[in-house]
Amino acid sequence: MYSRLRSSLFSFGPERAHALTLLALGLAGKLKLTHWALSKIFKAPDKPVEAFGLKFRNPLGIAAGYDKNGMAIRGLEALGFGHAEIGTVTPRPQLGNPPPRVFRLLEDQAVINRLGFPSRGSEFVQKQLNPYFQARISKKYFGVVPSEKNLTVGMIDKGNLLLGVNIGKNKETPNEKAALDYVSLVDNFAPYADYFAVNISSPNTAGLRDLQEKHALANLLKHIHDQRTLSEKQHEKRLPVLVKLSPDLSEAELNEALEVILNAHMDGIIVTNTTLAREGLTSHHQREAGGLSGKPLAVKSEAVLRQTVQQVNGAVPIVSVGGIMTPDDAKRRLEMGAALIQLYTGLVYRGPGLATEIIRHL
Ligand SMILES: Cc1cc2nc3c(=O)[nH]c(=O)nc-3n(C[C@H](O)[C@H](O)[C@H](O)COP(=O)(O)O)c2cc1C
Repeated sequence: MYSRLRSSLFSFGPERAHALTLLALGLAGKLKLTHWALSKIFKAPDKPVEAFGLKFRNPLGIAAGYDKNGMAIRGLEALGFGHAEIGTVTPRPQLGNPPPRVFRLLEDQAVINRLGFPSRGSEFVQKQLNPYFQARISKKYFGVVPSEKNLTVGMIDKGNLLLGVNIGKNKETPNEKAALDYVSLVDNFAPYADYFAVNISSPNTAGLRDLQEKHALANLLKHIHDQRTLSEKQHEKRLPVLVKLSPDLSEAELNEALEVILNAHMDGIIVTNTTLAREGLTSHHQREAGGLSGKPLAVKSEAVLRQTVQQVNGAVPIVSVGGIMTPDDAKRRLEMGAALIQLYTGLVYRGPGLATEIIRHL
């Protein structure tokens, strides 16, 4: 069924098609009847997993970038995802890079994007997340709802979508002041986030990836950890912090970054973001600047996962993302040692049924 919808959607530019699907999913998720209908169509069995003190109804999440401003949380929940990583959110609103800035590489089942963190900003996104948070507390939400006591210690009953908030700095914030941006976001989103993802690996914000260097990273994570500790006390809940890394680090750089992350009391690692590499592509868009995602990213993402699993040696859970296009891909990542998995580009090529298909297969 998706193949027909896909050809209509692909007649629009990638950004327009994405905006339309997000709008439709947002609306369908908010209306009780359509939420119910979507949940029936995309019914997925529970495959509960526990990671960093949270109970996920299944290991599959929608990766950051799909719902940057938290517009379609309930829709994503109805598609069967166990968690949604909202963002990247920046403190202040910003437009991102000029269009065109997203390209479909059809023959490669890939996407290149150079969006550069278009974000409605912290205040707007907090307002989007607030109703979902309130509903979870007041138990009015249609779904299995956690008790207030469980919510405060960060343990959510099965049935709910958990929310990660992926945070990044504004374009005009220099790296020396980046910690201020990240710290303010942890402070602002502490009531709403089940976990935080620190994004220092998008290739489309100049200099951002330099924050992965060991000294810069240690300094940034110290500030984030201090704020998280404060916010945990203030809101009486656990606030796990994960760090999202690039697939383009050398083996030595990755090992150094992992060592710093573990020493900085972080709760998990997300591997990987998009790549600047362009090996093995056939589509005419292959030379566009930006980060590559989808099928061709799988080899690199798996190599980074393998090294991360080995280096981390069970100390913290690992989230695998990058090139998961089929149920078998998803299963393999879990077998390789990932605790959770995420996808984005697979949804573009395989459609909304992919989440359910994957969860059933696990
Ligand atoms: C259009 C687009 C926008 C993205 N935006 C973000 C973002 O804002 N923050 C982030 O951490 N990752 C972002 N990503 C990266 C994804 O979260 C993911 O790490 C990457 O696409 C690899 O997964 P995939 O192959 O399943 O798409 C974006 C990816 C795409 C395709």
